[in-house]
Amino acid sequence: MNNFDFHNPTHILFGKGRIADLSAQVPVKAKVLILYGGGSAERTGVLGQVRSALGDRDVVEFGGIEPNPRFATALKAVDLITETGVTYLLAVGGGSVIDATKFIAAAAKFEGDPWDILTSRGAVVKDAMPFGTVLTLPATASEMNSGSVITHADKGAKLPFRSPHCYPKFSILDPELTYTLPSRQIANGVADAFVHIIEQYLTYPVNSPVQDGFSETLLRTLIDLGPKALEAPEDYDIRANLMWTATLALNGLIGAGVPQDWASHMIGHEITAFNDTDHARTLAVVLPALMNDQRETKREKLLKFAANVWGIHDGDEDARIDAGIKATVDFFHLLGIKTRLSDYNVTASDIDTIIGALTDHGMTALGEHGAITPKDARRILETAL
Ligand code: NZQ
Ligand code: ZN
Repeated sequence: MNNFDFHNPTHILFGKGRIADLSAQVPVKAKVLILYGGGSAERTGVLGQVRSALGDRDVVEFGGIEPNPRFATALKAVDLITETGVTYLLAVGGGSVIDATKFIAAAAKFEGDPWDILTSRGAVVKDAMPFGTVLTLPATASEMNSGSVITHADKGAKLPFRSPHCYPKFSILDPELTYTLPSRQIANGVADAFVHIIEQYLTYPVNSPVQDGFSETLLRTLIDLGPKALEAPEDYDIRANLMWTATLALNGLIGAGVPQDWASHMIGHEITAFNDTDHARTLAVVLPALMNDQRETKREKLLKFAANVWGIHDGDEDARIDAGIKATVDFFHLLGIKTRLSDYNVTASDIDTIIGALTDHGMTALGEHGAITPKDARRILETAL
């Protein structure tokens, strides 16, 4: 196993009715900025619950954070913080609202050009405002990690950053808040969490039976519960297990001490930056093509994945790898997610633009060996057309 540091300071409050516990988490004297998205939190009543749980605290609100949150929108929230003297941030929403809040928390304390936060991948962040989250969409694990992804529409860039200053102080995970999610968002969440696990598992062996075993259990749970969550939107146990699985998929636990890939994510981000395709759908396109392309470097783990996640034991090695990739594609289809670039209006000539952007953003040595070049990424995308 590789050396690692593991420190996750986020306090999780999980279960029914936990918004009521907000009052004990947010400092009494805080001036709070509630951040939310395009209106679902208002419609579903979550914002109403949050406002009443905050009681007499001085509260300011900022809505309109987009899916794939925009740099320009986040800067408006930073201005509002300066104008109003807010001291504490509270994100109410999915990964987009939480990611934007992380960026806003860092940018509000940053002296230079906030764009540097993204181009440095967070290295320049030395401080951030404190913030908590109320999660409404299980998918990204942003509620329990220090990462964030921000889109700059004019630059055609979707860039990730992370900083130890950007862990939420606390996150409220009430599975009942997910009942109102459209099927498309549940499917996206299952696929995104699935690929998060794969990015940390499907690399090469380093003798890490605990991390591998946790990963396989999380994958099997998503395979079991994903389709059921679509069929039975108000089944508490299904939603509860899905929510906790998505959090564990990317809170640092399964990735500690093991090599990590993240090439599918970095290539997928460029597709979203290109035409706003849902994050999870870009992954469902790139991952199967990447697994196929990288079958030699990933051979041992692909065989373990086929056997332990899908129960595939028959046939020679390549037949078992093929069957594992096919099972993955079939799973995305079962969730209602298409897996070809052409399904998302990306043509062969668009691949030039996507690869150009990947190169411009310095994503030139991807994967667990840093060996996937833009030329390799192009080949992978061409097989996914
Ligand atoms: O904007 P509103 O009106 O709130 O509607 C949202 C949005 O349209 C809606 N929604 C959320 N909760 C709801 C609900 N609708 C009804 N009932 C509810 N309870 O769902 C839509 C999608 O929300 P969004 O937050 O965009 O989805 P998700 O959580 O999948 O987040 C995706 C973003 O996270 C980034 C992605 O790149 C993307 O920008 N990621 C963040 C990561 C991280 N921080 O670690 C890792 C991931 O790999 C990912 O890159
Ligand atoms: Zn993701």
